[in-house]
Amino acid sequence: MRDPIRVIVVGTGQMGAGIGRLILDKRGLELIGAYGRRPERAGMDFGEAAGLGCTTGLLISNGLADLIERTRPHVAIQATCSRLADAKDEIITLVEHGVHVISIAEEVAYPKHRDPEIAIEIDRLAATCGVSVLGTGVNPGFVLDLLVIALTGVCADIASIRAERSNDLSPYGPSVLASQGVGLTPEAFQRGLEHGNVVGHVGFPESIYMIADAIGWEIERIEESREPIVSKVRREMPFVIVGPGQVAGCRHRAIAYRDGKPVITLIHPQQIYPQLEDVKTGDRIEIIGRPNLRLSGSPEIPGGEATAALAVNMIPHVLNAAPGLHVMADLPVPAAILGDARKRVHGMSGLAGESR
Ligand SMILES: NC(=O)c1ccc[n+]([C@@H]2O[C@H](COP(=O)([O-])OP(=O)(O)OC[C@H]3O[C@@H](n4cnc5c(N)ncnc54)[C@H](OP(=O)(O)O)[C@@H]3O)[C@@H](O)[C@H]2O)c1
Repeated sequence: MRDPIRVIVVGTGQMGAGIGRLILDKRGLELIGAYGRRPERAGMDFGEAAGLGCTTGLLISNGLADLIERTRPHVAIQATCSRLADAKDEIITLVEHGVHVISIAEEVAYPKHRDPEIAIEIDRLAATCGVSVLGTGVNPGFVLDLLVIALTGVCADIASIRAERSNDLSPYGPSVLASQGVGLTPEAFQRGLEHGNVVGHVGFPESIYMIADAIGWEIERIEESREPIVSKVRREMPFVIVGPGQVAGCRHRAIAYRDGKPVITLIHPQQIYPQLEDVKTGDRIEIIGRPNLRLSGSPEIPGGEATAALAVNMIPHVLNAAPGLHVMADLPVPAAILGDARKRVHGMSGLAGESR
């Protein structure tokens, strides 16, 4: 059998650490390097950074190009940021070096919405360099878009779609909690919204356009609203303490209109430790159409574990895909890799690094 698929993680925060731990567990995948943006992470053993309780011999690097040249990965999983503009330089560096990219940055899930020029640039470069780029994650990338799209597959007609995801934010790292306003007073939350440092969920337009694109709807406009979820009790995380009266999360909603009517409504209240106030979390999709459909589950699909698993499980699909930029709706359905990941890769052509 061929050598293992060589993988690096780009970002060693909560998600990068979880993704790296999963790669270390998977047959046919080899974690060969880790890149961290934080200068203080340089030279730290990945095992220590990821809380493995043992060393791995993989030292975190601050130089992405240097790490790629030294380790020659087939694929990189990016977990450094949310915005396309922020993710772009790392993606370009990886692609230029012939490395396939899976990013969990929310705006990479459907990049042509945020910035069509960057999307075209990445698509062309990836095609030229013979690699694929994909944005994925629990959301955007799965619950409020790919699952919805899959459900529409049994519909003859659709009048409207409503999907709600109420979830625990505690698996995520400090950048995510800050963008949700966790730990702020309600007044500071409001100011944060005005100044753009509190944004709530990143990814509603990406999910909406992915759904609309898949089913053939033209969306006229999207209206979004965000409210603080104010805690009644003390909630404590390593990065932040929320006292009674402070913000534990954000209730964010988006409504997309077509022909003047609301057709896609996405609702996403997220907070740390919702169980402390007996909040029942869960995922729910409702389609009004022919037939009417309802799918729901409680508690929610756990965001941290699901994002790490999706990013890793998409590796064979990304290696098998035609070179270029893809969204989740373009590729085969994600499936858990329980056997040897190499068996899922068709031929040797998916592994550009093989011939290097
Ligand atoms: N699409 C989806 O469904 C989905 C799901 C989960 C997360 N995400 C996104 O993926 C990104 C990563 O999530 P995450 O939970 O891993 O976020 P995170 O722990 O905050 O890590 C993100 C970045 O922040 C840096 N960082 C982590 N802890 C820090 C600290 N204490 N001080 C300064 N910098 C710190 C890390 O630096 P290093 O590079 O040095 O490690 C990493 O590059 C986020 O933007 C999140 O929104 C998307």
